[in-house]
Amino acid sequence: MLMEGELVGTELPLVKTEIPGPRSRELASRLGEHESPAASGISDGEIPVFWDQARMAVIVDVDGNRYVDLTAGFCVAVAGHSNPRIVSAISQQAARLLHSQGVQNPNEPRVRLVERLAGLAPGPLDVVHLVTTGGEAIETALKTARLHTGRHTIIAFQGGFHGKIGGALAATSQTFYREPFVSVLPGVVHVPFPDEYRNPFGEGAGDPAELCARYLERVLTHPASGVCDVAAVIMEPVQGHGGWIIPPARFVQRVRELCTRLGILLIADEIITGFGRTGAWFALNHAGVVPDILVCGKGMASGYPISAVITTREIARSWHAYQQSTTFLGNPVGAAAALASIAEVEERGLVERSRVEGAYLKERLQTIAKRHPLVGDVRGIGMMVAIELVKPGQSKEPAPQETKQVVAALLRRGVMCTNYGGTYHNVLKLSPPLVITREQLDVAIDAIDDSLAEVEAAST
Ligand SMILES: Cc1ncc(COP(=O)(O)O)c(C=O)c1O
Repeated sequence: MLMEGELVGTELPLVKTEIPGPRSRELASRLGEHESPAASGISDGEIPVFWDQARMAVIVDVDGNRYVDLTAGFCVAVAGHSNPRIVSAISQQAARLLHSQGVQNPNEPRVRLVERLAGLAPGPLDVVHLVTTGGEAIETALKTARLHTGRHTIIAFQGGFHGKIGGALAATSQTFYREPFVSVLPGVVHVPFPDEYRNPFGEGAGDPAELCARYLERVLTHPASGVCDVAAVIMEPVQGHGGWIIPPARFVQRVRELCTRLGILLIADEIITGFGRTGAWFALNHAGVVPDILVCGKGMASGYPISAVITTREIARSWHAYQQSTTFLGNPVGAAAALASIAEVEERGLVERSRVEGAYLKERLQTIAKRHPLVGDVRGIGMMVAIELVKPGQSKEPAPQETKQVVAALLRRGVMCTNYGGTYHNVLKLSPPLVITREQLDVAIDAIDDSLAEVEAAST
């Protein structure tokens, strides 16, 4: 039985105040007083909408406004926000054992989780290292590759994002995050990634996938490329921060072939794309590619912080006991949450749902796009669908200001969408919880249509 005011998760938008409302404004002002400016946009004058509660694909803010969610909280709430089964698993486990002494005294949920992940991961990947955040998992993966190969250099992709802590930041490409720390981020070389809308080699230069593959091959094999001692290539199978950039399967396969031929490890950063987001358990499944190291996080527990590195027995054996661990490694509550979330993804058929509903979302947006001069591109794979906004005309000039206005207009219509998408801050990156209903999707799509029209009308 539901308590009064409790959400079911299938509700539609209900906006009662200006957005952000008075309570969000008050909290923003208080947070801005005592929190690091690095932790939000408040020091830049932004006033975020503060979330109060959420259930499945519905969010309610602190002013009582209700939104349909197109974010899943940065692709996290795969099985829905505060999914009751996950909440119950967390509370039961927390009451029984909140923490065990990581490396020395493990716990049973951790055993069941590593078994489950080993079963889900493709091919021979069946040894799991649990950590807490995505950045930590990337660090662990990079160290694993270096340790196993005895080599140092990592190849990463331009537009790629792998986290903001030390080693992960070295692989992250964005200058904004790297610049102040670049002197302590050695050992990574960034190469172009096949963006089919914005060809990195220039408009009309040829097939970006072919050109990027050839570039990578040259970097790895040319005797005077300047790059040597390569341990691994790290790749997001679909670039997230970069703006939902989807490489063709043939590119992913070429990268795998090159790595295999040259004895270089392939690290797949599936932190965004894992657990059904793209309509497959892992995005590399679409290309039939098995990496040497698979990194996942975000959607793994639909909201509880836990992440994992999964690799082969042979690669994992490069580590000695106790050589790589953290205090919260294999936390029992995180493990219970992840097990419940994975069970929800499986039993509710969310991978298939992501494929089918994602295709519906993309198709409807492509139809709508025809009447909106602001829309330059609509692309997507599963429930990872992007609308790239550009100035009207053929220039493809990014429209970041208009993108911000569309996000604000969507909020006013009760649809939650993420700001600042893509390299040029001009991409609406849609990633609803995979449990979103068709009715909620339709309401969100209509709101996108109306919001685009509103912003277009205001800018002419
Ligand atoms: C692809 C990818 N890798 C790594 C990370 C870093 O994860 P975290 O923020 O949990 O450290 C992110 C975060 O957005 C990500 O999108």
